[in-house]
Amino acid sequence: MIINKNISVIYLTLFTCLNLSFANCDAPENWQMGFQDPATPIMEGVINLHHDLMFFIVLVSIFVTWMLVRTLWYFEQTQNIIPSTLTHGTFIEIIWTVTPAFILLIIAIPSFSLLYAMDEIISPAITIKILGHQWYWSYEYSDYINDKDDIVTFDSYMVPEEDLETGQLRLLEVDNRVVVPIKTHVRVIVSAADVLHSWAVPSLGIKCDAIPGRLNQTSIFIKREGLYYGQCSEICGINHGFMPIVVEAVSLPNYVAWIYNKLST
Ligand code: CUA
Repeated sequence: MIINKNISVIYLTLFTCLNLSFANCDAPENWQMGFQDPATPIMEGVINLHHDLMFFIVLVSIFVTWMLVRTLWYFEQTQNIIPSTLTHGTFIEIIWTVTPAFILLIIAIPSFSLLYAMDEIISPAITIKILGHQWYWSYEYSDYINDKDDIVTFDSYMVPEEDLETGQLRLLEVDNRVVVPIKTHVRVIVSAADVLHSWAVPSLGIKCDAIPGRLNQTSIFIKREGLYYGQCSEICGINHGFMPIVVEAVSLPNYVAWIYNKLST
């Protein structure tokens, strides 16, 4: 047992030193290069499509660079004193027209399937209405009603820097989080009260424009519990950078308890 304990201590030290962790990345980190970890099938799809496209990008870049270098090398004036008189090449023209078209065709298949998957609203169990304001978000759970005919509705403001507690994220923490159950199809309806905003949470693969006088809808299906951070993603005025989003994904019983609490207060 002591050996085991020592090994785990070594691992912990190693992970801390290398700045590695087992925790999922659901908020931006310093010098982050890649995506945040996915929490929905849609975000998994986005990341996979990115990887698929990366394959073609690398292939095409290497080929084009190789062609360019070869051309510059072999057709340089001192190396190639008598220029070629060739002006046409039907065969090569067919090749360099058909090949890119074929690559685009291959890319289109996963791209379209993802696009339609994002558009699909699968019989939602919960509907949440999200309104963008200058400069905060307000949330409305209209599925539930109490004896006083009240629905669950609240505003969500950023926690200012001077009020942050240890461990809280600067410019990302809010006073009231959106609580959502995991493994449930949730429909979100997004709109704005004043100007354009955009409700965006990277880990959920959502970026939905909030447009005054118009309802946009998407769906969320969160696979694991956690805190997902996002920000307004449409320039909406002076405090655009100060209206973050925090989605708290909890188990269904905890969600029911939360709703019950909200309705009875
Ligand atoms: Cu709201 Cu930018």
